[in-house]
Amino acid sequence: MQHIIMNGDTLELIKQIEPESIDLLVTSPPYWAKRVYNGEGEIGSEETPETYISRLADFFDELKPYLKPTANVFINLGDTYFGSGAGAWKKYVDEDGNTTQTQKDRKEKYFTTTPLQPKIKQNGKLYQNKQLLLIPSRFAIEMQDRGWILRNDIIWQKPNRIPASVTDRLNNTYEHVFHFVLHRKYFYNLDAIKIPGTNGKPKNPGDVWAINTQPLSGPHTASFPEKLIEQIVLCGSPANGIVFDPFLGTGTTWIVSERLGRNCIGFEINNDFISFAKERYEKSQQMNCSKVS
Ligand SMILES: C[S@@+](CC[C@H](N)C(=O)[O-])C[C@H]1O[C@@H](n2cnc3c(N)ncnc32)[C@H](O)[C@@H]1O
Repeated sequence: MQHIIMNGDTLELIKQIEPESIDLLVTSPPYWAKRVYNGEGEIGSEETPETYISRLADFFDELKPYLKPTANVFINLGDTYFGSGAGAWKKYVDEDGNTTQTQKDRKEKYFTTTPLQPKIKQNGKLYQNKQLLLIPSRFAIEMQDRGWILRNDIIWQKPNRIPASVTDRLNNTYEHVFHFVLHRKYFYNLDAIKIPGTNGKPKNPGDVWAINTQPLSGPHTASFPEKLIEQIVLCGSPANGIVFDPFLGTGTTWIVSERLGRNCIGFEINNDFISFAKERYEKSQQMNCSKVS
């Protein structure tokens, strides 16, 4: 397989890619006001959810010319409660409830104790403390308004989600993965992801996917579980096709694409993450070699 993995700003790097060449775009952008990956001015640090949504939709509009007319786009996006921010990170623990050294180090480097959300004058409407902002839905509607066709709102349910300390609402246990296309006719291999039905025949897996989160040992805190990307790569791209992740992070899309016989283009602005992704890729290659031999 041939992969193009580069460190830098996606909207600059994409200019080196051939127009109408990408079969599948799968990614998870930085969520609004959740984390500090790279500092001032980065995506996710906008003053309001509205400016975030319009910047994010602009971002995907700019990538459109590089997609094949038959391409699929899968975007995983999480929500934010207004008024929440740094607090959660003070209690950041692993699955057993312990704060590991890695997590302490990550927190030190990528999180802040000052609230990430800018002070917005509360208007008694959207911006009041404790409000679930519905950012994923607002983003999907904005994309529709710009001409993207929404085919599915997949619910990625996380069975292993750790209990939150909240006492006046339910713990959030899912995220959205939106499936967009550019035209009514597009590539889609449903057979590749069918599951066994009760009558023994393969059936459509439906739009709620129960997939455990997969913690990694490196610096990043928001990596995709490989299983989630596997499903999307299998149904959303042909064998030997080109899969693109414009927010590569720890390189999950790259590793899964290689394993499933797809070429990957991955861009990541943070040098630490790209180095980690490269190490992870090398290790996965070594593991594959030892499995074969
Ligand atoms: C939610 S994380 C992606 C995690 C990824 N799905 C994984 O499995 O590790 C978003 C990533 O986007 C990167 N990023 C933010 N702005 C970017 C830009 N303009 N160009 C490239 N990467 C960017 C961040 O550094 C961060 O690593």
